Amino acid sequence: MSRPRVLSGIQPTGSGKHLGNYLGAVRHWAAMQDENECFFFLADLHALTVTPEPAELRTRTRATTAELLAMGVDPARSALFAQSHVPEHAELAWVLGCLTGFGEASRMTQFKDKGGGNVGLFTYPVLQAADILLYQPQSVPVGEDQRQHLELTRDLAQRFNSRYGHTFTVPAPYVQRAAERIKDLADPDAKMSTSRGGPGTLWVVDEPKALTKKIKSAVTDTGREVVYDVAAKPGISNLLTILSVATGKGVEELEAAYDGKGYGDFKADVAEAVVELFAPIRERYAALIADPGHLDDVLADGAARAREVAATTMATVRDRIGLLPPRAG
Ligand code: TYM
Repeated sequence: MSRPRVLSGIQPTGSGKHLGNYLGAVRHWAAMQDENECFFFLADLHALTVTPEPAELRTRTRATTAELLAMGVDPARSALFAQSHVPEHAELAWVLGCLTGFGEASRMTQFKDKGGGNVGLFTYPVLQAADILLYQPQSVPVGEDQRQHLELTRDLAQRFNSRYGHTFTVPAPYVQRAAERIKDLADPDAKMSTSRGGPGTLWVVDEPKALTKKIKSAVTDTGREVVYDVAAKPGISNLLTILSVATGKGVEELEAAYDGKGYGDFKADVAEAVVELFAPIRERYAALIADPGHLDDVLADGAARAREVAATTMATVRDRIGLLPPRAG
């Protein structure tokens, strides 16, 4: 019996991948590899929406590949590739764009949150739908912030299927209960994000000293109790989530353990747990980034595997929508 298919992507921008990427997404990717046929990719075309420096985009694409491998993506079991190495992504995005209402695209909050920008940012969710539908995955492990994009993907798949006949698997609705939403340590009302960076972002390749310093300076709340209450204590609640996921202990158990202790002890333990969580990742990263030839091999192999699937889907799509095939020879 064939294994269920899983697909997900990550942007190769910013100063690296952070704790939110790891806890919200990549650790789940790593855990899914035994039981699923997995496709994971670097969303380098999506990264163009912020017009990065060309040299930086190249460097970051390799560095993100190394980070994903260091976080547990295993190229022997999963296809890991760059989006731009599979041209069908951009091709399907055009087709799906012609099925997307202008009002529908305008309602996507990411575009609104960024205060507009270029047309690429506007059609970003349509490219994301193409990324997904090309591979016919049953599920798409992402963090909570991607929920709206997955809903659009499902709508477009259903629309295409009802207009042209069944072509796409409609991926399961967003059900990633375990995916944790991690907040910025310096501004716990905002999510930890690559574009924000700064003292509130914990990069997976940060030195232990830097991690400890950022965690000890995390914004906390008035009072002294270590209790989970997102509305009244967003800073402490975020640290509790982090400690809970890093140690595998439940939030209630942690609240009981810190009863009567102050924020200082608590933060020291969070710092220790995160340093321990990231230490093996950092070590593996250092070895991987020193060998760019190996990273390029991994991406080439991943792209070859991805293209087989993407090309098959795209051939069906072209036929269904009535594009005349080019004459052979
Ligand atoms: P990106 O690169 O912003 O983030 C990668 C993954 O990390 C999750 N994530 C978080 N989870 C919890 N807490 C946080 N603070 C946090 N920040 C990020 C994201 O939810 C995501 O799962 N649009 C996507 C990339 C993409 C994609 C796709 C994903 C392009 N095409 C197709 C899935 C399928 C993005 O920008 O993720």
